Amino acid sequence: MSGEVSFLKPAVVNPATSPVLTDDLQASVRTKTAEVLALLKAASNELKNITFANSFGAEDMVLTDIILKNQLAIEIFSLDTGRLPVETYDLIAKTEQHYNTKLNVYFPQAQTVEFYVKNHGINAFYESIDLRKSCCHMRKVEPLQRALNGKKAWVTGMRAAQATTRTSLPVREYDAGNKLEKFNPLSDWSETEVWAYIRLNNVPYNALHDQFYPSIGCAPCTRAIAMGEDVRAGRWWWEDPTSKECGLHVK
Ligand code: ADX
Ligand code: SF4
Repeated sequence: MSGEVSFLKPAVVNPATSPVLTDDLQASVRTKTAEVLALLKAASNELKNITFANSFGAEDMVLTDIILKNQLAIEIFSLDTGRLPVETYDLIAKTEQHYNTKLNVYFPQAQTVEFYVKNHGINAFYESIDLRKSCCHMRKVEPLQRALNGKKAWVTGMRAAQATTRTSLPVREYDAGNKLEKFNPLSDWSETEVWAYIRLNNVPYNALHDQFYPSIGCAPCTRAIAMGEDVRAGRWWWEDPTSKECGLHVK
């Protein structure tokens, strides 16, 4: 190897995605995993027709792993807004390979998107909250309504600690807007517990998480956060924290 110059990049370890796996942390993850599994089993026995909304964020990869490894009778779907980061598409492909499964992906209605873009512009969501919300509506909410059609319940990966809009998030609630039961099994999980689960179970995850993107949505509306910032600070960063919901999770 003489004469070769090797350029070694210094390894940057993101403490948020690589927590120290203490005995206490592992025990708490084991207990909470058993609780989630019991909840999801009971929910699918009670309600039969259940679907899980998978955005491929860290929390959703935990649920994906629990559902697929335990062969739970819960469907999995994702909403492809057409504006996802390339790393999310890579993870979709990797997840299909890892679990030897095919995922259900819903897309927005092409004509609605064409009309919006023609009238408002390709990146109009930066111009006003109304235009941002209408983009989220056509790219996420309407496809969600189709995905939930005929279902008795849906499952999300939301956690109470993620945002001021989610502080009192119950594990089970009635979703009056969509008229079905809604389960948030990871509501009381911490970000550290989510990452401990991922590391302990070798779960595939989005490469952006290691680059300080704790919460990932569409590429143009998501950016990295600085140390100490709120985990959703990188989502719609130009808006007030109290308006930062896309309409998928309305009360
Ligand atoms: S968002 O409403 O602000 O976009 P967030 O990214 O925190 O939500 O995700 C919360 C939950 O909403 C996820 O755990 C997932 O259940 C659901 N969700 C969000 N985006 C998608 C998506 N693109 N496809 C499927 N489910 C999604
Ligand atoms: Fe549109 Fe941004 Fe909402 Fe994605 S997150 S649907 S690009 S406004």
